[in-house]
Amino acid sequence: MIRLECINKKLVMSGYSSIKILEKGSFVTCFTAVSSDNEKVVLIVSDNIQELQTRFDLARKLEDIEGVQKLCGLQKLEIQDSALEQLEAEYPGIFSKDSHVLTGRYYATQYNDHVRQLSLPQKLDFFRELLVLVKQVHDRGVYHMDLKPSNIMVQDGKPVLIDFGQSVTEAEVDSVLNTSAYAPKHDVYSCNVIPEKFDIYCLGNMLHEIYTGQPLGYPMTPSSRQAQQIKQTFGLFAQNIISQMTQRIQDLRISLQISINHPIFIYNQPMDSETCQLIIVDYYFQTQGEELIEECHKFTLNDSSYSNVSYDILPFSQSSSRTSSITTSLKDIFGNTTLSHVDSCSFSIYEDSQIMQ
Ligand SMILES: Nc1ncnc2c1ncn2[C@@H]1O[C@H](COP(=O)(O)OP(=O)(O)O)[C@@H](O)[C@H]1O
Ligand SMILES: [Mg+2]
Repeated sequence: MIRLECINKKLVMSGYSSIKILEKGSFVTCFTAVSSDNEKVVLIVSDNIQELQTRFDLARKLEDIEGVQKLCGLQKLEIQDSALEQLEAEYPGIFSKDSHVLTGRYYATQYNDHVRQLSLPQKLDFFRELLVLVKQVHDRGVYHMDLKPSNIMVQDGKPVLIDFGQSVTEAEVDSVLNTSAYAPKHDVYSCNVIPEKFDIYCLGNMLHEIYTGQPLGYPMTPSSRQAQQIKQTFGLFAQNIISQMTQRIQDLRISLQISINHPIFIYNQPMDSETCQLIIVDYYFQTQGEELIEECHKFTLNDSSYSNVSYDILPFSQSSSRTSSITTSLKDIFGNTTLSHVDSCSFSIYEDSQIMQ
């Protein structure tokens, strides 16, 4: 129990000073405060003990993962009847006899504010870190189920997941209530939600927002106008990963591990010629398939996956016969904006049969 009062319109709670309201949500209200050891903390208040308990238990379970919000205690608030009246006048609809408080670390930077000031390659690096973080959480059997910019904070340039209020720990769940702008509504309406794929869809929306400024809000089909526009401006890889992550059918939706290894994040780094070759092999591997986009979930960058590729790569200087088609292809892959990254890498691609001749 921790006593809460309202004195001179100010919230007074033992052990904390400067308590100020931060955000009033539908389930919880967040306050900032300064703790007795002079640290800024967040106080999450709700009378839904179940919701707070879920958040607390999951924070405990995942406490060794750096990018998961640190929560340190869950307590019942002790509020006298007279205090409740004053609280209701100053902070309507927040406190009740059942109010509980969850205490946690405060993070000063929000996802949107951080991402806004990054260049596109930096945004993609940061987004990949977010994917790796979500994968770490999934590997522990926890699925967030409400991934969106307002539930991601930033600490020392790294993403931090907050708000595990809707998380699940089952591999499949019967019903999910989340219908945020980032959530897959068609999954929600189906009987079985696959939690891993649910999180991936939300992340796909966030990636779309990185490129265009808005979440997509529905699955991206490769032939749609939006998909074609993304391909023209940002390249095939950008179009491919977004449409794979927001694939309507959960079973076909790309996995997190394959998203993490997608070439979009590799070519984003300064490239050596070997990496560049792998990307181009990948591209050719894909374009040889009849269904260019649907087959793309085979993107991986380990050598074994190329065992049945019937193309080899030679440095450009050895022949110039296919220069123009390669240049067009690079534009296809990398789009208008990032082509400069690969200026110094030119390759010619030959079929095996031609090399043998
Ligand atoms: N630890 C924290 N540090 C900084 N801001 C926070 C923290 N926890 C929550 N917030 C802010 O409060 C908002 C609402 O909190 P959240 O836990 O997401 O609850 P809900 O979305 O259920 O209302 C967040 O979007 C964020 O802006
Ligand atoms: Mg939230």
